[in-house]
Amino acid sequence: MERLIINGGKRLDGSVELQGSKNSVLPILAAAAATGTVSVLHNCPGLSDVDAAMKILRHIGCKTERQGHTVIIDSSCAYGSEIPDSLMREMRSSIIFLGALLARFGKASVTAPGGCEIGLRPIDLHLSALRQMGTDISETGGFLNCNCPNGLSGRHITLSFPSVGATENIMLASMGAKGETVITNAAREPEIVDLAEFLIKSGMKISGAGQSVMRISGNGRFHSAEHTVIPDRIVASTLMAGAACAGGKICIRKAEKEHLAPVIPVFETAGCRFSFGSDEITVEACGRPKRVRYLRTMPYPGFPTDSQALFMAVAATADGTSVISEKIFENRFRHVPELIKMGADIRVEDCCVAVVEGVKALHGAKVSACDLRGGSALAVAALGAQGKTVVENIFHIDRGCENFENVFAYLGADIKRAQRAGE
Ligand code: UD1
Repeated sequence: MERLIINGGKRLDGSVELQGSKNSVLPILAAAAATGTVSVLHNCPGLSDVDAAMKILRHIGCKTERQGHTVIIDSSCAYGSEIPDSLMREMRSSIIFLGALLARFGKASVTAPGGCEIGLRPIDLHLSALRQMGTDISETGGFLNCNCPNGLSGRHITLSFPSVGATENIMLASMGAKGETVITNAAREPEIVDLAEFLIKSGMKISGAGQSVMRISGNGRFHSAEHTVIPDRIVASTLMAGAACAGGKICIRKAEKEHLAPVIPVFETAGCRFSFGSDEITVEACGRPKRVRYLRTMPYPGFPTDSQALFMAVAATADGTSVISEKIFENRFRHVPELIKMGADIRVEDCCVAVVEGVKALHGAKVSACDLRGGSALAVAALGAQGKTVVENIFHIDRGCENFENVFAYLGADIKRAQRAGE
């Protein structure tokens, strides 16, 4: 098992290029399976979750090729509509393949995603929408068996919550549906807009992506498309949190300022200073972070749940008390006991509110990543901590951050990846 070893206290300085968005590329890879054509995707990050999605594509008969950050998918020869449990488990968000398989084959068989590290992640909204579009769904032995006896039909679907995954699954299923689908209370995340742009390039008609009401239609005919995946706004906030914890000045190249609009004011309140170029953001921080009185996670354009743990690492050494309320996932404070091992003073109330009393400094400790963003938060906190921190279970971090240690080492951090002693 690999781990990160970090000797904190080194100021960060330099310029790095932001990776492509994990949460964007995964549904786009699923969409590529449904086109029956060749899709060329640029800016695909090298991540274990992307590898897992490509394994699923190959399992169902697609040809895939990676050339650096470009991935080419030929789905003309795809034939399989069943994804085995072993592949479903490799990537927790593989449920987005359901809509794509239904669009392509009119049937799909996948295992129901179980509990995961940040909460139960129910898929009731996904299944309800797919049923409304004409899918019969039965569950046997942990498998969801889905069939569309009369094909998929466009419907007016109202989501009770703007779920990102459910919105994506509806968009993907719409690729194979007759008539127009209208989603009310659709998710508005930048990744939804990116998926819509790929689908439009492939032949779909979509309006309202990024707004609450989205209209989607197509004629079932697709053509080859080339697309560049948007930059990863959550990795951008990881770099911002690194600067805030360790101090320093980082230029984040190929960043999209608009996607970070919910995050930048919060880091400004914490004392970071920003300057902007046409596609780059420079963040500068020195001294102790300032407290943020109250922060709550919200669907976009609110503060992202994926950046909550990262910001908590900053608040841990702020000059006062910050209250952080997690409104999206019920189990997203698993980094808290680990931050406490590093000297943080945090108490969790009612499962979803963390009261963070800023301490003067954190100290190194042996900690364990419990999920992707929580794990990144521990590493980021360690960059500013006194002494040596060992972060274990870093496979979580590798799911979403490309070359985590190399990026921060390049910026001046004392960080390296090592095997556990004796391995
Ligand atoms: C996606 C992102 C994840 C991010 C989240 C919220 C990917 C691969 N993952 O996850 O990084 O943290 O959006 O921005 O893009 N819910 C239901 N029923 C459903 C679906 C969701 O109750 O059928 C609930 C979830 O349990 C959760 C909330 O809705 O409490 C948000 O989930 P959702 O927006 O669907 O997140 P994901 O698509 O799973």
